[in-house]
Amino acid sequence: MKVIQVENQIEGGKIALDILKEKLENGAQTLGLATGSSPLEFYKQIVESDLDLSNITSVNLDEYVGLDGDNPQSYRYFMQENLFNQKPFKESFLPRGDKEHAEEEIEHYNQILADHPVDLQILGIGCNGHIGFNEPGTAFDSLTHLVGLDQSTIEANARFFDKIEDVPTQAISMGIKNILDAKSIVLFAYGESKAEAIAGTVAGPVTESLPASSLQNHADVTIIADAEALKLLEK
Ligand code: GLP
Repeated sequence: MKVIQVENQIEGGKIALDILKEKLENGAQTLGLATGSSPLEFYKQIVESDLDLSNITSVNLDEYVGLDGDNPQSYRYFMQENLFNQKPFKESFLPRGDKEHAEEEIEHYNQILADHPVDLQILGIGCNGHIGFNEPGTAFDSLTHLVGLDQSTIEANARFFDKIEDVPTQAISMGIKNILDAKSIVLFAYGESKAEAIAGTVAGPVTESLPASSLQNHADVTIIADAEALKLLEK
């Protein structure tokens, strides 16, 4: 696992953009994308770049159940606003958060992932070490599945909603196996609230109680983090 300490998200975005360019030059076809605040600067730099992604497919990690794509809190809306509207891809997949058809959608999404192997997966990390919406306790061999969100995740994500009752309690997420199937992975972590999760991810035991520790089993992971997120790691 490679850990790169950066001053701020601008520097982190720049490093990730260079990694992305290198992957594209080497024939990458599919990008795995994440939502949350951590990849935002990276997306901004993609938008401002002259990269042509019109031949590239994207697949996103996860989506809330019960929010359709017109809902500003949905991850589909987030991706449209922050990336896809300004930088069109060939095609962009996210799980559909339609409650009635969740089971069908899970099967459908696993098929999409099988058809589009991810060359570069972008990740953030939850304060409890979740990746995508794979909460502590998720099996490392999991595929796309329906998730009941941890109370701590609901509380952490409430900042994006008017009130905590509006935060969905379920999501559809790629599983940990789907994430580890990506050829290369870049994980962004900024701020002190991520310090404990990052220390465990990089140097702790590999355990299902810290989903991101599964990344130790992957051959090509780069963690881009600021000093606050790295503060519990030995130099
Ligand atoms: C959510 C998303 C994750 C994301 C995490 C951290 O729960 N499902 O994919 O990594 O939040 O978000 P942030 O980057 O805003 O800290």
